[in-house]
Amino acid sequence: MAVIGAGVAGITAAQALANQSITDFVIVEYNDVIGGRMRNTKFGSDSDGNPYVVELGANWISGLGNDTLDGPENPVWTFSKQVNLSSANSDASSIVTYNETGAVDYTDILDEFEEYWAIFEQNAGTILTENLQDRSFRAGLWQSGWRPKGDAARKAVEWWMWDWETAQTPEESSFVYGITGYNLTYYAFSELSYFSVDQRGFNTWIKGEAAKFLEANDTRLHFNTVVTDIEYSDSGVKITNEDGSCVEADYAINTVSLGVLQNDAIAFEPELPDWKQDSIATFTMATYTKMFFQFNETFWPTDKQFFLYADPTTRGYYTVWQSLSTEGFLPGSNILFATLVDEQSYRVEAQDDETTKAEAMVVLRQMFPDIDVPEPIAFTYPRWTSTPWSYGSYSNWPTGTTLEMHQNLRANVGRLYFAGEATSAEYFGFLHGAWFEGREAGERIAGMVTTECRNVESGCGNYTSYEVLHGTTDFSEVNAFNGMGVSPLFVADTGDEEESDA
Ligand SMILES: Cc1cc2nc3c(=O)[nH]c(=O)nc-3n(C[C@H](O)[C@H](O)[C@H](O)COP(=O)(O)OP(=O)(O)OC[C@H]3O[C@@H](n4cnc5c(N)ncnc54)[C@H](O)[C@@H]3O)c2cc1C
Ligand SMILES: *[C@@H]1O[C@H](CO)[C@@H](O)[C@H](O)[C@H]1NC(C)=O
Ligand SMILES: *[C@@H]1O[C@H](CO)[C@@H](O)[C@H](O)[C@H]1NC(C)=O
Ligand SMILES: *[C@@H]1O[C@H](CO)[C@@H](O)[C@H](O)[C@H]1NC(C)=O
Ligand SMILES: *[C@@H]1O[C@H](CO)[C@@H](O)[C@H](O)[C@H]1NC(C)=O
Ligand SMILES: *[C@@H]1O[C@H](CO)[C@@H](O)[C@H](O)[C@H]1NC(C)=O
Ligand SMILES: *[C@@H]1O[C@H](CO)[C@@H](O)[C@H](O)[C@H]1NC(C)=O
Ligand SMILES: *[C@@H]1O[C@H](CO)[C@@H](O)[C@H](O)[C@H]1NC(C)=O
Ligand SMILES: *[C@@H]1O[C@H](CO)[C@@H](O)[C@H](O)[C@H]1NC(C)=O
Repeated sequence: MAVIGAGVAGITAAQALANQSITDFVIVEYNDVIGGRMRNTKFGSDSDGNPYVVELGANWISGLGNDTLDGPENPVWTFSKQVNLSSANSDASSIVTYNETGAVDYTDILDEFEEYWAIFEQNAGTILTENLQDRSFRAGLWQSGWRPKGDAARKAVEWWMWDWETAQTPEESSFVYGITGYNLTYYAFSELSYFSVDQRGFNTWIKGEAAKFLEANDTRLHFNTVVTDIEYSDSGVKITNEDGSCVEADYAINTVSLGVLQNDAIAFEPELPDWKQDSIATFTMATYTKMFFQFNETFWPTDKQFFLYADPTTRGYYTVWQSLSTEGFLPGSNILFATLVDEQSYRVEAQDDETTKAEAMVVLRQMFPDIDVPEPIAFTYPRWTSTPWSYGSYSNWPTGTTLEMHQNLRANVGRLYFAGEATSAEYFGFLHGAWFEGREAGERIAGMVTTECRNVESGCGNYTSYEVLHGTTDFSEVNAFNGMGVSPLFVADTGDEEESDA
């Protein structure tokens, strides 16, 4: 067995194999560390001159689950507790609002948008259950009565409630699957999210999982190994690396990001079938940029977590600022960070640090006009769009596509399987999406090579592309997902009993 990538999906896939006594696997990984897009850096310094550790990638355990309700728990939370991960309750109501004249209270608009959210949910639910055509989140908002027009504060609120999470605009995003994703994470688990401030790094939890089945310096884990070619067939998979080395395996699980697939970083032999290429082209790899600033003092309110800025002209321009210098986080760190996404991310990725820092400081000085805002003593931001082992931050579900197209992103080609955040219909964009998909792919392969199928929940063996399952490319007949490993939420009772491929 071969697993490409030692991020959450790759480590979890290998663990699922190990759990079913399949131990003859190798994991090949571009970088020299486990965790993939859960990645940190040293930044600034504390009063002793030691650097802080901040997260450039994933930071939140989104939707924890609730012990007292006996419902499902987010696996990321389960494993984070096992390593005593240091994290803080991320409280969206701990917020101050600003515009270009300084602090201006428009929290009433936040409340207004929250009230609309209940309408969005119901309308998206109706479209889902009645099998109506999906539309953009913007169209969904409009039909639900939310019409911000040119109002800067309304645009900032909308950005904070939507773009800040999905990393794309309402115009670019699916209404139905956006809301469904929100429901499945924040209602099925819980509305609580925790933010990692662990100075060992957020990836400590997946390292903890890896240590349960890998030895220290395990020879099955190959770091600094860049896959360039994958040859696949119904009898096996051959992986060739940049250094000329290769791995031949009975089965392989490819966990590279959708961005890596879209950027042709890996050549496939034979070329991926049209249905697979269509799905790779259709889903979106979005970019989410955290921009870190350390100052010599904390000049912003220390009792608040979030600062929302409504730029008078440009939607998404330094809209959300977040303090790490707050109780429960890294108090006394004097660290503040801003988040940009999508076009604003692409823009700042193309310019140098000094230019970006200068424009961000103009915004901060508008937000705090009565304070002599000092220059930062440390400043950094990652450029996810051009990072060659990721090419973007995480996936988003675009307007106007279907579950069938999404299943094609996930389906195996011969003995080559695909897993990762983007292949999750329920939890795309999230760490737990990568975890569930990694487990699923590992269990499916285990189901092929052992006599007993132990993945009863979603079936064993091949994933089936929609065309193969139905012998048709007619996408009008939705909802026949039995045996496809998709959440029961998506499986309407059509009385159409599909053969499971177990
Ligand atoms: C800025 C940012 C913020 C985020 N915030 C959150 C958050 O708060 N909460 C949350 O739940 N999720 C968040 N996410 C999403 C989360 O990080 C991802 O969903 C998750 O880490 C994806 O895991 P994965 O295993 O699917 O992919 P990856 O982590 O990308 O793992 C794939 C692995 O494959 C390796 N690889 C790539 N190409 C090759 C190659 N050619 N050869 C060999 N190896 C290769 C990569 O190095 C990588 O280690 C965020 C992501 C980013 C970038
Ligand atoms: C493997 O088994 C361990 C122990 O039962 C469990 O904690 C872990 O979640 C399993 N991993 C997967 C990917 O199924
Ligand atoms: C769990 O659910 C109970 C009952 O609804 C609620 O009282 C409690 O606040 C919840 N706890 C968390 C941590 O969300
Ligand atoms: C986590 O904390 C508990 C209680 O303090 C301790 O028993 C346990 O060993 C710790 N685990 C790790 C991995 O640090
Ligand atoms: C989301 O959850 C709400 C509240 O439970 C429900 O009314 C709505 O139908 C759900 N929407 C979708 C798209 O799942
Ligand atoms: C693993 O490798 C590191 C670096 O080469 C070394 O310091 C460490 O002792 C090794 N650990 C084991 C258990 O072999
Ligand atoms: C910013 O707030 C001030 C004070 O309330 C207000 O006069 C101004 O119109 C606001 N700016 C915009 C662009 O709405
Ligand atoms: C921070 O630096 C500014 C000058 O840039 C200075 O005026 C201020 O006193 C400094 N604050 C502290 C706490 O040292
Ligand atoms: C999976 O698909 C392959 C063809 O790609 C086929 O040879 C194999 O028999 C299938 N396995 C199962 C269990 O359906």
